[in-house]
Amino acid sequence: MQFADNGATVVVADTNLGNAQKVVDEIARLRSGNATNQGKALSIKVNVTKYSAVEKLIQQTVSTFGKLDIMVNNAGIGPSYLKTHEATMRDWNRVISVNQTGAFYGIKLTFNNLYSKVMEIL
Ligand SMILES: NC(=O)c1ccc[n+]([C@@H]2O[C@H](COP(=O)([O-])OP(=O)(O)OC[C@H]3O[C@@H](n4cnc5c(N)ncnc54)[C@H](O)[C@@H]3O)[C@@H](O)[C@H]2O)c1
Repeated sequence: MQFADNGATVVVADTNLGNAQKVVDEIARLRSGNATNQGKALSIKVNVTKYSAVEKLIQQTVSTFGKLDIMVNNAGIGPSYLKTHEATMRDWNRVISVNQTGAFYGIKLTFNNLYSKVMEIL
């Protein structure tokens, strides 16, 4: 919401498309008095643990809005307040795949996209 409030076009990407769309609707509602920025938000379903899904998200963002300036890797889960000694390897691997691997994919693919644009300009 802060990005939208400051004039950014926002892509809200989440495994839960319904919740992502609620954020987009809220942005559109807040912007309804400002014709220049109205409607510049989009929800996309993504599972950040899948490299190809994050790649597609970035491609879709760039093809829709022309560029990607800021990537916020904030998908995160916790092992539901499990005590560490009670957590299984499955719990552990699930948390790592979203919180760390997902963030890595987001950073890596965003940088690849930004650097490819710089190389085009050079
Ligand atoms: N909220 C806090 O105060 C707080 C404080 C410290 C740490 N954390 C940690 O930060 C993380 C996020 O917390 P939150 O409160 O924003 O949680 P949240 O559940 O409100 O938001 C996380 C979002 O990530 C999405 N998500 C989960 N798995 C995904 C996936 N594979 N691909 C794409 N999206 C996915 C969820 O659908 C959800 O919308 C958690 O790991 C939490 O433990 C939160």
